[in-house]
Amino acid sequence: MTPDLRRMREAAVAAAREAGAILQDHARRGFRIEHKNAVNLVTDADRRAEAAIVAALGKAFPDHEILAEEEGLREARAAAFRWVIDPLDGTTNFAHGLPLYCVSIGLEHEGRPVLGVVLDPTRDELFVGEAGGGATVNGAPLRVSATATLDAALLVTGFAYDIRETADNNLDHFSRFALRAQGVRRLGAAALDLCYVAAGRFDGFWELKLHPWDMAAGVVILREAGGRVTDFAGRPHSIYGTQLVASNGLIHDAMLTVLRGT
Ligand code: IPD
Ligand code: CA
Ligand code: CA
Repeated sequence: MTPDLRRMREAAVAAAREAGAILQDHARRGFRIEHKNAVNLVTDADRRAEAAIVAALGKAFPDHEILAEEEGLREARAAAFRWVIDPLDGTTNFAHGLPLYCVSIGLEHEGRPVLGVVLDPTRDELFVGEAGGGATVNGAPLRVSATATLDAALLVTGFAYDIRETADNNLDHFSRFALRAQGVRRLGAAALDLCYVAAGRFDGFWELKLHPWDMAAGVVILREAGGRVTDFAGRPHSIYGTQLVASNGLIHDAMLTVLRGT
């Protein structure tokens, strides 16, 4: 790892910890909820955590771009690096007091995800992945599972906030996988879903219409743990695309077959 990338990793970990402390403070003291639509929430905890991350990274790396969920894109001229930030992934869980949420900070270099930091502040689990440098949870190496069949696989998925407004809402895929896998879960925090595949806690994850900030950090962690990530047709994954299939690699083709509806 170059000294520059080490500095970026340290800054991202510090920013994630600062944001995690803000979230936990709000979890204890309370927060205000606003509705983006009937089921899509944002709280002042999301906004405060994001402001802290953007301020810290913006100060440390003024020539980097920053794409953050609530604030949008802060452009920088001829920037080679872009931070992609979800200050609170799992807002609905957080709003209900369900301790399944995280802070997600990804970094792209010339369009390629190179660093991922995901902090689960309730379990104090810090997931870190660096392109070419491996992935860890609290410093211990991460490795995907060895599950080789869908019959033995525990899968996870999620549903976008437009679930009531469109038929393209993943319920068709969900019912097919429910009949094919050992089990299917819906945790409500996509960045953690990716980390849990990286950790071998899940064998595969698929979702539609995720946003770049849901995936930017997790895909680096997953790949570095030996996992595979593509779109539903098996093509290279982009965090700016609308489909994600992430797995231990061994069940990937079987997942693509189910997603094709055959
Ligand atoms: C959501 C979570 C959820 C996923 C949604 C995301 P948010 O992010 O990751 O698991 O199913 O599609 O939008 O709103 O909690 O940051
Ligand atoms: Ca999110
Ligand atoms: Ca969020």
